[in-house]
Formats: sequence, C-alpha cells, structure tokens
Amino acid sequence: MLVLATFLVALAGLSEAAPQSAHKVREAVHTPRDWIKLGAAPAEHVIPLRIALPQSNFDALERHLYEISDPEHARYGQHLSKEEVEELVAPHPHSLNAVNEWLAEHGIPESDCTRSPAQDWVTVRIPVSKAEAILDTKFHMWKHVVDDDVVLRTTSYSLPEHMHEHIEFVQPTTMFSRIKNHRTTFRWSEDQAISTESDGSTISLDYGEVDTSCNKTITLSCLKQLYNAVGYKASAKHGNEIGLTGYLEQNANLHDLQLFYQDQRPEAVNSTLKVTLINGGVNSQNTSEIGAEANLDVQFAAGQAYPAPATFWSTGGSPPYKADANTPSDSNEPYTEWLDYVLAQWKLPQTISTSYGDDEQTVPEAYAKRACAGFAQLGARGVSLMFSSGDAGVGDGDSDPTTQTCFTNDGRNVTRFIPSFPASCPYVTTVGGTYLVPEVAVPFSAGGFSNYFSRPHYQDFAVEEYLRKLPKGTYKGLYNPKGRAFPDVSAQGVNFRIFYKGRAGLIDGTSASSPAFAGIVSLLNDARLSHGLPPLGFLNPLLYSRGVHGFNDITKGNNPGCGTEGFNATVGWDPVTGLGTPNFGKLKEIVLSHYW
Ligand SMILES: *[C@@H]1O[C@H](CO)[C@@H](O)[C@H](O)[C@H]1NC(C)=O
Ligand SMILES: *[C@@H]1O[C@H](CO)[C@@H](O)[C@H](O)[C@H]1NC(C)=O
Ligand SMILES: *[C@@H]1O[C@H](CO)[C@@H](O)[C@H](O)[C@H]1NC(C)=O
Ligand SMILES: *[C@@H]1O[C@H](CO)[C@@H](O)[C@H](O)[C@H]1NC(C)=O
Ligand SMILES: *[C@@H]1O[C@H](CO)[C@@H](O)[C@H](O)[C@H]1NC(C)=O
Repeated sequence: MLVLATFLVALAGLSEAAPQSAHKVREAVHTPRDWIKLGAAPAEHVIPLRIALPQSNFDALERHLYEISDPEHARYGQHLSKEEVEELVAPHPHSLNAVNEWLAEHGIPESDCTRSPAQDWVTVRIPVSKAEAILDTKFHMWKHVVDDDVVLRTTSYSLPEHMHEHIEFVQPTTMFSRIKNHRTTFRWSEDQAISTESDGSTISLDYGEVDTSCNKTITLSCLKQLYNAVGYKASAKHGNEIGLTGYLEQNANLHDLQLFYQDQRPEAVNSTLKVTLINGGVNSQNTSEIGAEANLDVQFAAGQAYPAPATFWSTGGSPPYKADANTPSDSNEPYTEWLDYVLAQWKLPQTISTSYGDDEQTVPEAYAKRACAGFAQLGARGVSLMFSSGDAGVGDGDSDPTTQTCFTNDGRNVTRFIPSFPASCPYVTTVGGTYLVPEVAVPFSAGGFSNYFSRPHYQDFAVEEYLRKLPKGTYKGLYNPKGRAFPDVSAQGVNFRIFYKGRAGLIDGTSASSPAFAGIVSLLNDARLSHGLPPLGFLNPLLYSRGVHGFNDITKGNNPGCGTEGFNATVGWDPVTGLGTPNFGKLKEIVLSHYW
C-alpha cells in the first residue's frame, strides 16, 4: 500500500513537470464596461504577443532604488548602470528555458522572438489562431461605445499549469484600457495680442513679484516668476537633457515650436528638437495633423530647459485595429514599447515628462505593476520621471464631475473614486494642477489613492498627517487609505499660451502641469551637473523629506468628482496639489547642499 502510494505520488509529480500539463486560467477580467463584443477575431490576423517573464530580483532593484534616492543614505546619487539594472530584472534561466521550450513545442522558433534588453519580455508575432491554441482562449473584436475604437481582445486566457511560475502574464489579451492624453482643452486666444502684455503691475508673493498678466495667461516667463527661477542661467556644457513622450499619433510641430520660441524664448530660435520614432510612431508635419498635446509638451518643457537638448519620442502601437492590415498594429501597451526602447539606450535624458494616462482600474493589475517596475528601472539609472495626475478630480473623466457616478469594474459595481495610472505608480513623480496668482488648486486636478499600489514609506508621514486631519468617516469606502497617494507635487495647469497651427492659443490640463514641473526639475538637474554632482534621479524620497521646504504649499481649492466635493487642498501634503508648487531657488539650495 505504502509503496504503491509513493509510486502514485511520484507519478503525479512527474506528470506535473511534464510539458503537457493541463491549462489553468492565468488572467480573467469581467466583461469590460463600455465595450461591445463584436465577432470572432480573424484567424489569420497577426498579433504581437508580449510575454512577461518574472523579474527574479525586482525586490533588490527596489531596495537599491530607495537607497540611492534617499538623501540621508550614504549611497545617495550612486545610480546603477544599464547592465546592473538588467541583471536585477533578468528572469531566472529556468524561466527563460521553460518559455523557449514551450514556444518551440508550438512551432515558434527562437528566430521569431524579440526580447527586451533584460530578456524579461519576449514578443512573438503570430496569427490569432495560433495565439488561441497556446493560450486556450478565443479572441473577439471589441468596440468602445464612446469613440468606436476597435480592439482584438479576450476576457480570459490560460497557460499550462507548469508555465504559471515562468510567465507573469501575456498581453494584449485582457487589456481594455485606452491610453489618453490627459484631457487638454485648447482654445484660440481671442485677445492674444494683449494677453501677455504687461501693464507693469505685479502681484506680491512671499518670495517676489509676479506680473499681473500671469493671472490670465501662463508663459515661460510667468513660470520663472511663479517658481522663483528668474535669472537662473542654465548651461549646455554638462550633458543635461530633457525628454517628452508622445503617444496616439500626437505630432509635435517644429514650425509651431519656432513660433513659440520667437514669442517666449528668442534665444532658443533655430534650436532643434530631436525626434525619435518608436514602434511605428509618427511625427507628421502635415498642418492638419498637429497635436495640441504634443505641441504643449515640447514647447513648455523644451522652452524652460533650453539650452538643454530636448528629445520627443513618438511611440506608436495603439488601437484602432485595422481589419484589412495584416500587420501587428493592435497592441495598446505603448508604455512598454517606449520602455523597451529607452531601457536599451546607454544614455538617457535626466528629466522626462509624460502627459498621458488612464483610469487605473482599466489597466490589468499585473500589467500596471510591470510598467511601473519599468519606471523604477529608469529611476535607478538616474532619470526623474514626471507624469500628469489626470484631469477628472477624484472621478473618471468621462462625465460631469458633480453628477457623475463612479463604479468599479471588478464585478462588484460599487461606487468608488477612480485613481489614474501611471499617476498611481509609486516610482514616478505625479503632478497635479493649480491656477491663478496667488495659486489655488484647479478643480480638475486629479488626486487620490491607488487600489493597486500600497503606500510607499517615503509618503507615510505626509499622507498620515493628511488622513489624520480628515473628519472621521469622510468618504469611507470610496478610497483606499493604505494606497499610494497622489499627486506628489503640482504646477500651473490653466491658460498656457502655446502655438498651434501657426497661431497662439490657450490650453489647460495637468497635461500642462507635468511639463511645467519637469522644466523646473531640468534646471535643478542642470545645477547639479554644473557642480559635478550626479543628476537627481527618482525624486520622491528627496521631495517628501528635505524637499518639503522647497515648495509653495497650496491650501485653497478642492477636486470634485463622483458627485462629491472631492478632497481639499490643505496645509501640508494633500491629494489635490501634493506638496505644492516648486520654489526653484529654495530647491536649488537643497539639492546643492554641502552634505551631499
Ligand atoms: C486673478 O483672476 C481671478 C479670476 O479671474 C480674479 O478673481 C482675481 O481678482 C485676479 N487676481 C488679481 C490679483 O488680479
Ligand atoms: C535663425 O536662423 C535664421 C536663418 O538662418 C537667421 O536669420 C537667424 O538670425 C537665426 N536666429 C537665431 C536666434 O539664431
Ligand atoms: C494632411 O492630412 C490630412 C488629414 O489627415 C490629409 O487629408 C491630407 O491629405 C494630408 N496632406 C498631405 C500633403 O499629406
Ligand atoms: C452598476 O450599477 C449602477 C447603479 O445601480 C447601474 O446603473 C449600472 O448599470 C451598473 N453597471 C453595470 C456594468 O452593472
Ligand atoms: C473641505 O472643506 C470644507 C470647508 O471647510 C469642509 O466642509 C469639508 O468637510 C472638507 N472636505 C474634506 C473632504 O476634507
């Protein structure tokens, strides 16, 4: 009996390790809200399947990141090299082998695979029919009810049981998110001739005077005045650079950039923007295809950072699916496409701004965590990443904030505030919005608490202070008080004077706040490099400790949504304006302090 039982156990063990183990569901989502299932996906359509292998040592990478970003730590500023980062996120050789064998069994040779530098991603371009076989699923076409985007997706897929430990997830499968530029509102400025004209009157702030015109129109000069950077001369000699990401075929127009420079930064006229196209990205210069978002981002970030060279990355790879093109155009995971590209570079801009995002709950959790881990790798390499917080207050951005209803899409359909991603990633610096002079929180400034990421330690003090002051029971059940709280900081987000299609106009959104804040960070990096110091890298541990003295605390305003008044801006950190808006003069002293 005993012998037989042992034998059976041994057999069971064997069959578990055998290649033909049974499929088990790897990821499943509820029927996605606002998407309608159309027909079955065409069997021969080729899709890019991205396979995420577990990053064997991410915990160690995170430990390094926190040490080298903590100004009290002896290793502050000792960023990791490309190879060091890759070694820490490389999958275990067993996982690499197992995935290779599994693909080979399905007739997918090594030569059809492309890999990320650390080999933690494998991409295979295969027909739908083959993807359905290896994932034991059925793909369908799905249409979004609002904008008619069509994507090719499934709500559930499986992997052989023995592969679960070697594959974290496979996309695009259950990804129903739609990356959006944070809802910028653009309008032609009717009084453009006078809007920036100063009548010489000023508004007094703690640290100086701001031209009264800045209360109506934000220019580069206004940002310098508001953020105490007047008179700082950046140098082009120490390798400082800035980068802007572009998605969704948002084209940055080079002619408009020159008009903007003529208007607001004459010494930058004729300086160029380096444009890099990734994964089929475009940067059409056709006048009817100019993107207001892209123009805003490059004009304000590059304009502030000048003479630091600026790079604009245009990353392709988003819906809509084109039924007649038998090409793999149907991934909407542009962050990972962009990350693949930049992580493979030896040299990176020290400051990068992104004004895109989506509701956190529409991004599969495993995918959000992996993209966020990619941002951590950039931080470890010494890059400061800014993301706009979103433009829907505590709500979801698709309807009127005072009457909207905000429901979870996790099958429970309960009312909750709707955080955004990547704003909720703990390894990036999230920028909310303000307006007017003196500054107050702008109502659309998105803020709140992640449901995917727990609160990082660097925020404990600031966020606990805020929560302690909230009247007991406020919004109970509507947000996750233990979640990563955002935004971290804020900057102006209304009435930015940009050039678009050859004319001046005004634009709003935290889409403006992120490049505005990034411009200040780029000047801080410039100051660090000019003093022979390493760049700032991941900012948050510094900002929430010594850095708190370098901010203008914003204490007025709130961010309505989901039929509520949202959170209030308060003394100290708050989920509307974070720590406040930057005071460059003070931050520069802090980042050049003789202790380090
Ligand atoms: C700034 O603009 C706001 C709104 O238009 C106005 O209420 C306020 O009086 C202005 N402040 C100054 C100092 O001009
Ligand atoms: C820009 O280039 C034009 C044409 O070459 C030249 O006339 C102009 O002086 C340049 N401006 C600056 C600021 O360098
Ligand atoms: C410019 O873009 C518009 C709109 O996409 C298109 O109709 C037009 O043909 C394009 N013009 C050129 C010269 O490519
Ligand atoms: C969620 O609940 C609300 C209110 O009860 C209802 O109007 C809505 O249709 C529900 N949505 C889904 C997807 O079940
Ligand atoms: C915001 O402030 C108002 C006015 O002081 C107060 O009534 C309200 O309870 C506060 N809301 C929150 C969420 O703190």
